[in-house]
Amino acid sequence: MKRLEIREIGPEKIINISNRNTTVRMDEYLMSLPKDVIGKIMMDRGAVMELMGRLKATLNAEYIGVYGGFLEDGLIGYVSLARCDDMPEIQIEVLPEYHGQGFGSELLKRVVRMASDDFGIDRFKYVVNPANTVSIALVETLGGVLQEPKNYAEEMLLKTYVLSAEVPGVQGE
Ligand SMILES: CC(C)(COP(=O)(O)OP(=O)(O)OC[C@H]1O[C@@H](n2cnc3c(N)ncnc32)[C@H](O)[C@@H]1OP(=O)(O)O)[C@@H](O)C(=O)NCCC(=O)NCCS
Repeated sequence: MKRLEIREIGPEKIINISNRNTTVRMDEYLMSLPKDVIGKIMMDRGAVMELMGRLKATLNAEYIGVYGGFLEDGLIGYVSLARCDDMPEIQIEVLPEYHGQGFGSELLKRVVRMASDDFGIDRFKYVVNPANTVSIALVETLGGVLQEPKNYAEEMLLKTYVLSAEVPGVQGE
């Protein structure tokens, strides 16, 4: 596999990649759940509001950095680090035609190491929709630790992992 070149990019470049991906949308995911599960989630209104607030805050968060992965000078993916209360939150996307070839894994490993070297960050949050099996496989492969959900709504709607900068098999940039 060719090695990616990784460098900082402007956040406006993300949209070119996001527009090409079809990630599991929260409303579609909700509709896919059995009615009794949706009912149980909705009973805890406070928890649902808190989760929606978290999602909104992530969308509006300021970036600590956005790193692009380049292959032969073309941008094929990115990892962004958004400023959050406790630890930076990771978002990652790779262009669809490059999925499943190890690029997401390489990008994430190396960016985590770069952020650790550049900013001294040693822990990252990785929040994922429970239906996003590839993203879950990715973070678990890199040693992400699943956090205990605070309530039923969180258990069903969002999985939160904590990823350490000490990912095995990564040398500094
Ligand atoms: C999630 C994403 C970044 C993964 O990038 P990728 O380059 O496709 O992933 P990789 O090829 O590096 O694979 C990472 C792991 O996922 C698993 N995986 C890859 N493709 C898979 C598939 N189709 N089904 C199940 N698992 C799969 C493998 O276990 C792999 O681990 P391994 O290296 O130990 O074999 C990419 O699929 C993507 O951009 N998806 C759309 C956006 C998105 O969902 N972002 C995450 C939001 S939290």
